[in-house]
Amino acid sequence: MELDLSGIDIRISDDINTWEEVNLLYNAALKQITTKIEILNEEFQEVHRYNPIEHIKARAKSPESIVKKLKKNGYESTIENMVRYVNDIAGIRIICSFTSDIYRIAEMISNQKDIRVLRVKDYIMNPKKSGYRSYHMIVSLPVYLSDRIVNVKVEIQIRTVAMDFWASLEHKIQYKFEGEAPARINAELLECATMVSNLDEKMLRLNEEILLMEK
Ligand code: GTP
Ligand code: MG
Repeated sequence: MELDLSGIDIRISDDINTWEEVNLLYNAALKQITTKIEILNEEFQEVHRYNPIEHIKARAKSPESIVKKLKKNGYESTIENMVRYVNDIAGIRIICSFTSDIYRIAEMISNQKDIRVLRVKDYIMNPKKSGYRSYHMIVSLPVYLSDRIVNVKVEIQIRTVAMDFWASLEHKIQYKFEGEAPARINAELLECATMVSNLDEKMLRLNEEILLMEK
């Protein structure tokens, strides 16, 4: 069924004017998308008898981090610039068991009619130089206020438990060394990333084998 949007004013995210509105809208978007993903997971459980999602983390970027990011990229700290240039004010991280789940989840999200996929970065097919692997999407979804609909951007990161383990340690290390970790540590992290990738592959194959045996 098509939504009847006649008479309703649909505006782009530029229509956010105060910090309070930023807070309200991005938190609303986080709640909506979390619920959507939970529903997809429950449906998947019903149909396939297994949960593709281990857990979901949602967070709104702190005002300090938003300002810092704008500054780093050479933008003035205005609401307009936040909304336009900071894609991860609302962030969702979806952790799953197997690499194949990642693409399944990404597809289920993209198939939702009210979600618009603005950008995809597949750091699993193309890992970062650091060794970082994850599937990133920037999407927008409509948040309904009393007098208007505002499209709000959300950054979605989808990764396996193993990728998440690696990313959180790597993040901690880079934070400690302010991004200038000694070469030996970076080399070891890269080595760990390869191990994580091999582990993911092995676990996926094992799981597929077991599924075939059950049939
Ligand atoms: P920012 O890195 O957020 O400025 O945005 P970007 O446009 O470069 O996007 P990208 O998709 O590359 O990264 C977005 C987010 O992914 C980051 O904020 C981190 O949470 C995560 N990320 C990207 N690269 C790495 C990495 O090398 N290590 C870890 N631990 N996380 C990373
Ligand atoms: Mg970020």
